[in-house]
Amino acid sequence: MLTPQQLIQWKQQGRAIAVLTAWDYAIAQILDQAGVDVILVGDSLAMVALGHETTLPLTLEETLHHAKAVCRGVKQALVVVDLPFMSYQESPQQAIRSAGRVLKETGAGGVKLEGGHPAMAETVAKLVHIGIPVMGHVGLTPQSVRQTGFRQQGKSSEDRERIVAEAIALEQAGAFSIVLEHIPSDLAKTISEKLVIPTIGIGAGNQCDGQVLVTSDVLGLGTWKPKFAKSYLNLYELITTATQEYCGEVRSHQFPEA
Ligand code: KIV
Repeated sequence: MLTPQQLIQWKQQGRAIAVLTAWDYAIAQILDQAGVDVILVGDSLAMVALGHETTLPLTLEETLHHAKAVCRGVKQALVVVDLPFMSYQESPQQAIRSAGRVLKETGAGGVKLEGGHPAMAETVAKLVHIGIPVMGHVGLTPQSVRQTGFRQQGKSSEDRERIVAEAIALEQAGAFSIVLEHIPSDLAKTISEKLVIPTIGIGAGNQCDGQVLVTSDVLGLGTWKPKFAKSYLNLYELITTATQEYCGEVRSHQFPEA
């Protein structure tokens, strides 16, 4: 499995990092064999795989269930698992228990958590201290959707300063990488230049050290995607056509053949 240290070296060498999300064995196996560097069991699976409107309802048990399936499909990539809402915010002890379960029960190589305020940086430092690699996440943090909506962050100068300070605090706490979500590209560039650890952008322009997208957006599996995402395929249409063809052949007795 790729290591967090390798990602930091790649930043020094100018090698960009490709990250995608996965929620089951089949998708994870394909992404891994196709050469994705980091596979994120993002809590976006609450929306794209479980049909929730936000990531908030996802539980730790559900996360573990999906992360185990993903890890069974991955041989090369670094697997990072999102700690779901309210599985780590209560206290560093709660975060240690949840992240510990992720590493022990799934075989993943690290966890991701949202936010970089002083209490969260302290939690990250404690996790790192006991040997749990942590990826940070600042800018738009979907677990705070009830406060911020899904809007771009980092527009005002105070907000920009706060996001920069959070990213620095997470690096100082020992995070091995930080996701920058939905912030202006010049802010993402500033942060990427200030940090030694790699930044992974999503809706944050092309100046980050790597990029992440939600795989159902990349494959065109859903009916909606954010403006900043790119679909490389329209799987929704392909699956619809294949399904209609199958139904038609069953109903006309063309399938199966005698
Ligand atoms: O949950 C997720 O998929 C994420 C990415 C969008 C970074 O956190």
